[in-house]
Amino acid sequence: MDKKIVLGITGGIAAYKGAELTRLLVKEGFTVQVVMTEAAKSFIMPLTFSTLTGRPVYHTLFGGPHQSSTLHIDLARDPHLIVVAPATANIIGKAANGIADDLLSTVLLAVRLEKYPVILAAAMNTAMLHNPAVRQNMSLLRRRGFIIADPLAGELACGEVGEGRMAEPEQLLSLIKRTLAKRDDYGGVSVLVTAGPTREPLDPVRFFSNHSSGRMGYALARAAKERGAKVYLVSGPTSLEPPAGVEFYAVATAQEMYDVTLTLFPEADVVIKTAAVADYRPASASAHKLKKGEELQLRLVHSPDILQELGKRKKKQFLVGFAAETADLLISARSKLEQKNLDIIVANDVMQEGAGFEKETNIVQLLYRDGGAEELPLMSKAELSHEILDRIKACRQH
Ligand code: CTP
Repeated sequence: MDKKIVLGITGGIAAYKGAELTRLLVKEGFTVQVVMTEAAKSFIMPLTFSTLTGRPVYHTLFGGPHQSSTLHIDLARDPHLIVVAPATANIIGKAANGIADDLLSTVLLAVRLEKYPVILAAAMNTAMLHNPAVRQNMSLLRRRGFIIADPLAGELACGEVGEGRMAEPEQLLSLIKRTLAKRDDYGGVSVLVTAGPTREPLDPVRFFSNHSSGRMGYALARAAKERGAKVYLVSGPTSLEPPAGVEFYAVATAQEMYDVTLTLFPEADVVIKTAAVADYRPASASAHKLKKGEELQLRLVHSPDILQELGKRKKKQFLVGFAAETADLLISARSKLEQKNLDIIVANDVMQEGAGFEKETNIVQLLYRDGGAEELPLMSKAELSHEILDRIKACRQH
């Protein structure tokens, strides 16, 4: 495999496993460029890595022998993948917060996630792993598109038993190979994603909406982009940054989402509708702010069902709907799949722990057009996005 990998080694006891990972990668034919932090050198010698890779090991930002002053940019310019193994709480914190005070953290600040994946193989003591600051940094990085290889449970260097051990080198090698294989599998495919809530105005200062954060849709758009798709993201108001490289359309009401989505529909091969579209809107929106009175009676009318309309018009398109339910999950989701002429519906019980709107994680069941169903375990919305894209790919190939 003629691919270049930048391998970061940070200062944890699992640094020795980084040497084993290097050996496996070199054996697979990867060109491996190792970058070490100062602390990593307390655990393992650069000579180990330069011997394994046949290349110099970089560890200083400036002034190394024959080293360009823009080495950090050069390293981040064109690898096929960057992996940091082990990734300590410190490097994770720096990457999440934009701190660049050595070569590796500066390389991580210069990464281009839209061009290649970055894997961080977390390894630390259990208490550190469960520290809210570390958890927050990890979820922030996941949301931005970094892949975090979760540590395993087992015996730790500090003598404690718990979560924190770095994933084994063989597991990381297979994650690296899987990640690279997925990189272009959506090349030439147009994916249209709708995300977030809609807002239905009542007057110039008030609206009806819902708790959708847009996270699932943004994660799907990012994942599809990473895998080489042309991505259209039609989004209601959220606080999220649109992923780099997607064609972004900001909308507010269900009607606006309907108009934009239907215009883009003929271009799409795959449509994924994560948006939580308001089913009702006020029959009329007041031009002026409504004043307080005795009692207010509102008349609500239906907003258009976008997915239903797409189901009617569908030709080549593969349609994926989402169903957030609080009761009768499978029955409701199956009937939506049939009514809206979908290929897959992703059903989740929003009352369940770990699932739902404002969360980083989700637990879902996938229902297929042919009657099949599949339950997926709790996972991050980023990981779930890739699982969903894997299933869509498999169904479209049949
Ligand atoms: N949907 C849509 N337009 C609407 C309502 C829903 O496109 N006006 C889409 C959603 O994006 C989602 C799927 O339909 O992919 C299911 O949405 P949901 O709100 O669960 O279903 P409804 O058909 O609105 O049914 P109900 O609210 O009665 O459960």
